[in-house]
Amino acid sequence: MSIQPIGIFDSGIGGTSIWKEIHALLPNEDTIYLADSFNAPYGQKGKGTIINLSIKNTEYLINKGCKLIVVACNTATTNAIDYLRSTYNMPFIGIEPAIKPAALQTKSNAIGILATKGTLSSALFSKTSDMFASNINVIEQIGEGIVELIESGKLQSDEMKRLLEVYLKPMIDAHIDYLVLGCTHYPYLISLLAELLPDHVKIIDSGEAVARQTKAILKKNNLLNIETSNNKNCFYTNGNPRIMQSLLDSKFVVEYLDF
Ligand code: SIN
Repeated sequence: MSIQPIGIFDSGIGGTSIWKEIHALLPNEDTIYLADSFNAPYGQKGKGTIINLSIKNTEYLINKGCKLIVVACNTATTNAIDYLRSTYNMPFIGIEPAIKPAALQTKSNAIGILATKGTLSSALFSKTSDMFASNINVIEQIGEGIVELIESGKLQSDEMKRLLEVYLKPMIDAHIDYLVLGCTHYPYLISLLAELLPDHVKIIDSGEAVARQTKAILKKNNLLNIETSNNKNCFYTNGNPRIMQSLLDSKFVVEYLDF
């Protein structure tokens, strides 16, 4: 049993989609969420830079006494989690695109994946794709510009709609029946994506699976907080707190932090 907080970091505000799943499944746990919006997007950066930014975020959360860290960013997971696990003696939970369930369930034998350049070009992504989807037509699409629009509060804009129409066209033409969201910012686009995709296309993200994995690893390491205390959730961003606040219930307060 441990009352220490769970640390969660992302390149920005998108990882709050993961935080929501974790908070729903583990309401007793204290959490600290760190949004490195100043450096977003990570998806266009090189591996070395992504590792250095992940170290900075991790060390902040370790200094705050976190017992486990969720890397709520696909790009940071696919590029830096091996380094983090081999460097720090604590559990890390990462997030990878849910290719496996999509590949197992597709009937049209075609699935789409929308993710950052950093995720799609990573060795971890290639390995997962080869392992589970080698016989499937996987339409990969880099979501260039999407994270920037979300980080600047333009979630429901015409610009976003136009960008998504272009990105989805080759997938629709290839008759996908599953769209895998490979970036933690993208779950905030689900209603817009559903409008633009044919009705039969299912959209999947990894949020629930990450929350379940977080619970399982806390349990395995005897780190679950079983006290029903006044649970505390802290949110910090080095970007614009108002934009992040718009994604959260007003009872959760987002603070600016220069880190
Ligand atoms: C990014 O920072 O480019 C996107 C974050 C992600 O990959 O989840």
